[in-house]
Amino acid sequence: MILAANWKMNKTAAEAASFVQGYAGGLSEWVVPTVLLVPFTTIPAVAEACSHTGIPKQRLAYGAQNFYYEAAGAFTGEVSADQLLEFGCRHVICGHSERRHVFGESDDLIGKKVRRAVDKDLVPIFCIGETLPERESGQLESVLTRQIEEGLSGVSATNLSKVVMAYEPVWAIGTGVVATPEQAEEAHAFVRKLLVSSFGASASRVPILYGGSVNAENAYTLMIRPGIDGALVGGASLKVESLLALHAACVKAAKEKGEA
Ligand code: 13P
Repeated sequence: MILAANWKMNKTAAEAASFVQGYAGGLSEWVVPTVLLVPFTTIPAVAEACSHTGIPKQRLAYGAQNFYYEAAGAFTGEVSADQLLEFGCRHVICGHSERRHVFGESDDLIGKKVRRAVDKDLVPIFCIGETLPERESGQLESVLTRQIEEGLSGVSATNLSKVVMAYEPVWAIGTGVVATPEQAEEAHAFVRKLLVSSFGASASRVPILYGGSVNAENAYTLMIRPGIDGALVGGASLKVESLLALHAACVKAAKEKGEA
């Protein structure tokens, strides 16, 4: 079980540092790792604040929401894997629906980022998910299949073990309309089947997170479901108390599933 917080374009460096202090101070146990996906400008402050918490890096990790796959060069406005690694980032989001739909990122570009991330030992949190019209017109499986095939093309079975998947139905992101546990479980099972058929049995260990309007009230009912291995949370991750409550819900589900 993993609890991942996607802050999107929120928080200054000072706000981020004080969040880390408050969150770490409020955590009573670390059995479920937390990953903070933070704005680039806050990474040094988050790194510094995390280093003072005494919580091991595997239990309180941080990373970025995006990066560019080239090593260096004339790519105005972009940030490389090495620039993230320099500040201790362990994770990076690839293919978030806002990158796909607001910034026009293609499956091909996302695939290049995923390959670069695993090559650099950054854990890609690789997001996939359908829009409402796609779901309503019966294209859920074909959309997920295309996103996975293109996003993971050229990734070896060994490197797949470094990937974290996130199923985020676009219609549930930031809308307050959360997928039902049944809908989420069904989509996760489909993703799992696809991964295992393409990469073999070891793909059964790749975590698949659910994202889209997860909050402290609905997290447990989703996380307790088989095949849902954690949450990727936007809005409800921005307040310390709310993320702590989400963490407690994940710990409860993980314990009941025998994972912690
Ligand atoms: P919300 O939790 O705000 O719906 O955002 C989900 C998301 O996009 C996480 O990556």
